[in-house]
Amino acid sequence: MTIKPPVEDFATDWDHTDPQWVQDPYPIWEDLRQRCPVAHTERFGGGWFPATHEGVSMVAKDTENFTSRTVVVGNGRPDDDALPAPIGVAPPITSDPPFHAIARRIMLPALAPGPVNELEPQVRALCRRLLDNLGDHEIINGGMDYAQYIPPTVIQQLLGFPAEDEETFREFVHVIMEGVDHPEEERIEEFAPIEEYLRVQIEDHREHPRDDFTNYLLNAEIEGNKLQDEHIAGTIILTLVAGIDTTWSAIGAALWHLASHPDDLARLVNEPDLMPVAIEEFLRFYAPVTMARLVKHDMEYLGCPMKEDDWLLLGFPAANRDPAVFKDADKFIIDRVENRHVAFGLGIHRCAGSNLARMELRVAIEEFIARHPRFELADPSDVTWAPGQVRGPRNLPIRILR
Ligand code: HEM
Repeated sequence: MTIKPPVEDFATDWDHTDPQWVQDPYPIWEDLRQRCPVAHTERFGGGWFPATHEGVSMVAKDTENFTSRTVVVGNGRPDDDALPAPIGVAPPITSDPPFHAIARRIMLPALAPGPVNELEPQVRALCRRLLDNLGDHEIINGGMDYAQYIPPTVIQQLLGFPAEDEETFREFVHVIMEGVDHPEEERIEEFAPIEEYLRVQIEDHREHPRDDFTNYLLNAEIEGNKLQDEHIAGTIILTLVAGIDTTWSAIGAALWHLASHPDDLARLVNEPDLMPVAIEEFLRFYAPVTMARLVKHDMEYLGCPMKEDDWLLLGFPAANRDPAVFKDADKFIIDRVENRHVAFGLGIHRCAGSNLARMELRVAIEEFIARHPRFELADPSDVTWAPGQVRGPRNLPIRILR
């Protein structure tokens, strides 16, 4: 692993993996909004970071000048070996128009409100089971022992994969998201078990069809043709990555907030009708997901001299804190009424799993506060946040107050 020099000025040398950004990115973004507002870096082979809502929305909606060929910043640029553009390795998130719309349309019905509502009783039972297992310990790790267990089970059930493989999914997510800087050969080696696992699962579903998302993809067609196995595997990988650490990060951040803001916790416990607006404010204030694009060609854009294959880091969380769009943007207002946040993105790639994510977040919080109406951070200095493009607390020791 290479040791990177610490960042001295995020305006000219941003690095979203720098400890300062990981620990508390909000003052950095506020400073950038006032000074730039598009920051530059030579790291990762060159890239740009617009810190305003306006800049983020312009880029997110612009598929002429930016490609989604890859959405995770790394040192290299992906080649087209696996699945060539515009399909990409994990359709639809890595697909560009016009293929994107086809790949997205295939997924949407499975994640629509109807099927998601059917999952709610299972998710509620799961949360209760997890809380039972945590028992009546005084201190529990809300991030690792609660939040982190909910989405993998939901996704495992959705895909119809063996229940005992949840730990394996968590490892896959780490490999996919956190190994982006590794050299090409290492990356191929790291991906081999994932590809093999998916090959076995797809084969098993082909031989023993059942009513789940994997068989749904096996039956899907594009203009009368079944999907290629690479497309199916890519969409499954996307579902694992997009559906797991995003949602556990959102649940963890909401618990962190409630543990450190007793007034908001008391209001949510005593006024359950607040839950829908509170969920939107959790999503705005602690938006976990930052995605990337690659610049398609040299151009002057947002006043910057962008070069082909420069990164463009799309800070949806930064857009959500822009005072030009949100009144008192830097305040968490649990009953905020007007809240057109962009935690789920903007434009053609807007999150396809937002119904599922909102349901899991709501049920996870409802069940936690029903069981433990009073709790606090055991030691704020013990809390750690995940580095990279999906932000959420990893270590979150919570003291249950009786
Ligand atoms: C709180 C949890 C979640 C957040 C904050 C979130 C956020 C996002 C964001 C910002 C994007 C846009 C990516 C881009 O512009 O490149 C996205 C795309 C996507 N998300 Fe989510 N997501 C969450 C949970 C989920 C879940 C549970 C699923 C379902 C399994 C899911 C499936 C997807 C898919 C398939 C896309 C790609 C859509 C497309 O390219 O058309 N997400 N998500």
